[in-house]
Amino acid sequence: MTMTTALILDCDTGIDDALAIFYGAHHGADFRLCTVTHGNVPVERGARNTLTLLDAVGLHHVPVHQGAARPFAQELHTAEYVHGDDGLGNSELPESNRHISGSLAAAEIVAQARLHPGELVLVAIGPLTNIGMALLLEPKLAQLIKRVVVMGGAVGIQGNISPAAEANVWHDPEAAQLVVDAEWDVLFVGLEITLSTVLTPAGLARIENSTDPRAQLAWKIMAHYLDFHEKTMGVRTAVLHDPLAMALALEPELGRYKLVNAYVELGQGPSRGALVGDLRATRPAPVDPRAKGVIRIVESIDAEAFHEKFLEALGA
Ligand code: BDR
Ligand code: CA
Repeated sequence: MTMTTALILDCDTGIDDALAIFYGAHHGADFRLCTVTHGNVPVERGARNTLTLLDAVGLHHVPVHQGAARPFAQELHTAEYVHGDDGLGNSELPESNRHISGSLAAAEIVAQARLHPGELVLVAIGPLTNIGMALLLEPKLAQLIKRVVVMGGAVGIQGNISPAAEANVWHDPEAAQLVVDAEWDVLFVGLEITLSTVLTPAGLARIENSTDPRAQLAWKIMAHYLDFHEKTMGVRTAVLHDPLAMALALEPELGRYKLVNAYVELGQGPSRGALVGDLRATRPAPVDPRAKGVIRIVESIDAEAFHEKFLEALGA
């Protein structure tokens, strides 16, 4: 029997966010609610996309709450060049006829955390504005949440949106700093691991050739993402940033981790938005995951098992 994990998904749906929803739906995510932030697309578009994807995997009961329309301290910046004008690879999927829920994302995160203290895992796969705002609304949020998994950062390697920074952290560095500093157990699944676990050509072929409706839908929305990676990385592949964060939220034993002291670069220079982890071998590693400024990062994962589970979630 699959164990379930009660979670709040904060997302900016987005092609790989959509793939993370497929992954979670199949592998025991008990989605209590989805909250949506600006990021890949403007927030309302992301919220509508989230409803569409939840409906596609039969999760018609999961409410979607719209959140921040822009970051704390900089202009809105979206990424249609990666995800398509509609955020789902210009796939023109029929829209859900469900409504976006009335209460706002950060308020709802706080309300659910208070109702279910210590029970909920927070999975954040977009910019961290909603989570930062929830931390400001409820100073005890860190104690109310079981653990947090963020897709974000590029510790020890180059970024994607800038030479130093990964997109989710870069989109709202001030909010990301609040998440780093909160005294909770937070894992940052960064580019240092997601870039080394891209789908193989054989994996892609399984999706393309599958007759399962989930695989066919995924293949439709992935074409634009494959084009983007071909242009920028020289390889026709898909980087599974958000599905990997979802996988490690549901099944932490797929990875090995280490604790590091970390901060977000908040200056206005070219390194703004970088997540800096102290990897110096000459410094003692922190021991308390809940200490201020301490995060977990991923050292390694069982990539073969992850890919197999990803393909299984699509019926491929
Ligand atoms: C992250 O940025 C977004 O484009 C993706 O959805 C992912 O969450 C990768 O840097
Ligand atoms: Ca995302």
